[in-house]
Amino acid sequence: MLNVVLIGPPGSGKGTQAKRISEHWSLAHISTGELLREEVARKTPLGLSVANKLAQGLLVADDIVLGLIKDKITSLGSKGFLLDGYPRNIEQARQLNRLLEQIKRPITHVIEFTVSEGELISRIQNRQSVSGRSDDTVEVARDRLSVYSQYSRAVIEFYESQNSFDGLQFFRVDGVGSVDEVFSRIKVALNY
Ligand code: AP5
Repeated sequence: MLNVVLIGPPGSGKGTQAKRISEHWSLAHISTGELLREEVARKTPLGLSVANKLAQGLLVADDIVLGLIKDKITSLGSKGFLLDGYPRNIEQARQLNRLLEQIKRPITHVIEFTVSEGELISRIQNRQSVSGRSDDTVEVARDRLSVYSQYSRAVIEFYESQNSFDGLQFFRVDGVGSVDEVFSRIKVALNY
């Protein structure tokens, strides 16, 4: 069974490739950004409490995000999962490990996308007019990138250090090129 984690900066193509991967391998696509935006759109108490964080490009509290993914992950049945945008800091990575150990469902693949900052900003800027996302301004995109550089290194090192242990494989994939080209690289990495 495939249980995949996608890591990458804002605009690196996590959501785009997650759709493709989850369709191709019939995985449950769990995007914490999407789950949070749904809460904001529905104006739930949780949504109202996190709206400002999203608009500013800051991370939402770890326990809130864990609460959102917990039900999804524990009710997957025989389906594998694809986590998009989670974990985002080392505490989330540890919380996820504890949860997955409890339900005996280990991560099989971690894929990190690499894309230059100029390309990321340009992609987010291009999407701004159609996405309707409060965080798709160039200013907030820069803040999101800075949050990513602050917290992601520890998460990447956490998984890189586990590469080839307990069946986990870590891959770094060049996220530049056409969507098809990037997907082809992922297929090689997953080799499944
Ligand atoms: P989230 O929704 O996860 O956003 P993000 O990480 O900032 O990433 P994006 O959605 O901007 O980009 P992406 O990598 O998915 O790329 P995409 O495929 O869309 O998080 C949003 C916020 O929620 C966070 O800032 C935080 O506040 C909160 N949050 C979420 N998870 C959290 C967590 N775990 N803990 C705490 N808080 C959390 O592509 C981007 C654009 O590029 C699109 O227009 C696309 O069409 C285009 N594109 C894609 N691939 C290519 C390509 N190969 N070539 C050219 N263009 C491409």
